[in-house]
Amino acid sequence: MKIAIGSDHGGFHLKQEIISMLRKNRHTVINVGAHNDKPSDYPDFALAVATQVIRGKAVRGIIVCGSGVGACIAANKIPGIRAAVCHDTFSARQGVEDDDMNVLCLGARVIGPNLAEEIISVFLAAKFSNAERHKKRLGKIAALEKAFQGR
Ligand code: RB5
Repeated sequence: MKIAIGSDHGGFHLKQEIISMLRKNRHTVINVGAHNDKPSDYPDFALAVATQVIRGKAVRGIIVCGSGVGACIAANKIPGIRAAVCHDTFSARQGVEDDDMNVLCLGARVIGPNLAEEIISVFLAAKFSNAERHKKRLGKIAALEKAFQGR
């Protein structure tokens, strides 16, 4: 699968470990940065990952910051992005199956590489259920985006 990944300084080292893991599992990785652990701003990398997903250059995105929270808030500002912080495998699976989550946010100051790897493998294996009730709810989210565009 084509995966876009980004981090700020807080997530840099975990991102590098995740990239190695993804490549070992034969995924194609688009690394949008940061390319070092000098202080940087997570909204820049959230935007870069989101852009790859929205333009169809990547199927899913992963953003790592200190907590996962800032990256998630920023990514969800981009219409069409459905990002969530998941530090457990249940949420990572259900977030895709029910909510069509397309960006996973992780906190490098919260979880370690082993749990990150498990969460990512569940996130990438999961598929949206296409169930009518979930499509209806996603339609309501899309309507919210539309209603507040340009305000
Ligand atoms: C940066 O220090 C930190 O605020 C950032 O990585 C992230 O945790 C924000 O949510």
